[in-house]
Amino acid sequence: MPLQEIRAEDLDAPEFIAEKVAEIRAAVGDGYAINALSGGVDSSVVTMLGHRALGDRLKTYFVDNGLMRQGEPEQIVQRFADLGVRVELVPAQDRFFAALAGITDPEEKREAITQTFYRDVFAQLVRDSGARCLLQGTILTDVDETVAGIKRQHNVFEQLGIDPEEAFGYRILEPLVQLRKDGVRKVGEALGLPPEVFRRIPFPGPALAARVIGEVTREKIALVRQATAIVEEELAATGAFQYMAILHEDRVTGMRQGRREFGQQIEVRCWDSVDARTATPTQVAWEILMRLGRRIVDEVPGVVSVTYGIAPKPPSTMEVV
Ligand code: XMP
Repeated sequence: MPLQEIRAEDLDAPEFIAEKVAEIRAAVGDGYAINALSGGVDSSVVTMLGHRALGDRLKTYFVDNGLMRQGEPEQIVQRFADLGVRVELVPAQDRFFAALAGITDPEEKREAITQTFYRDVFAQLVRDSGARCLLQGTILTDVDETVAGIKRQHNVFEQLGIDPEEAFGYRILEPLVQLRKDGVRKVGEALGLPPEVFRRIPFPGPALAARVIGEVTREKIALVRQATAIVEEELAATGAFQYMAILHEDRVTGMRQGRREFGQQIEVRCWDSVDARTATPTQVAWEILMRLGRRIVDEVPGVVSVTYGIAPKPPSTMEVV
């Protein structure tokens, strides 16, 4: 049965919340549920929704996959602590980098992250916690793109004919699956999340691995992480839907201190979009782009080229993996 979309303009957020809280309570009964918080809008909203439904019977984990942005794991755990939600930090960097070693194909990279997360790290957390349900922030755009074969979103199973109970040993609840990003933000606001959470720019499930072309290594993630911090600082004021740094696989000739340097290339993308289904590059002021380029080559070791992506989605996608 196709999923019934609830458009943001038709959404009555308080009514939606009451309905989902009741559904979560009915599904979990007197047991436990668990969920993984990445700090993105979708998982933050699911965490608050689950917390409202279950209180301490929802156990929330932040899996540190080693692919997050600078300081992100600690900041997110702290932010939710301030909201009265306890989040446990699970260090799992080694398992993710081991799973990603030697893989260059984008879909295989996504698959490696998915498998490590759901089959390895999360399955163990579920077993240890005795929970019967996993709450997950899948949204309609994730389902659409997966079903259309554009991109295998790392949190979509049922539509691919995968039964999570059979594959991973637990049931998945997806309370946001009828919404798109604009609807999720409305629900977040109605749940009392602070604007820096419900308006936070989207960040993909595969995290910085979605922004490294070719094999993902610790070194490449460290490099794209540094560039990302600069891009986010410089482009926050644009108010764009999303902005990012991408590390290319090819090296290019550059020069530094009068010597040839066969260096790295960073591509900056900045997107205007309403719901991520289509997007156009933001008309960023030239002075901002110039400052951004200067800072990236000065501050990120080994980078000699910075480009700005000007292709629309479609045919581009917003991330590169
Ligand atoms: P693309 O690259 O498909 O991105 O044009 C569309 C939007 O989705 C985000 N994105 C993801 N979000 N899990 C997510 O939760 C994923 O696997 C994933 N991949 C892409 C992307 O950042 C953009 O906002």
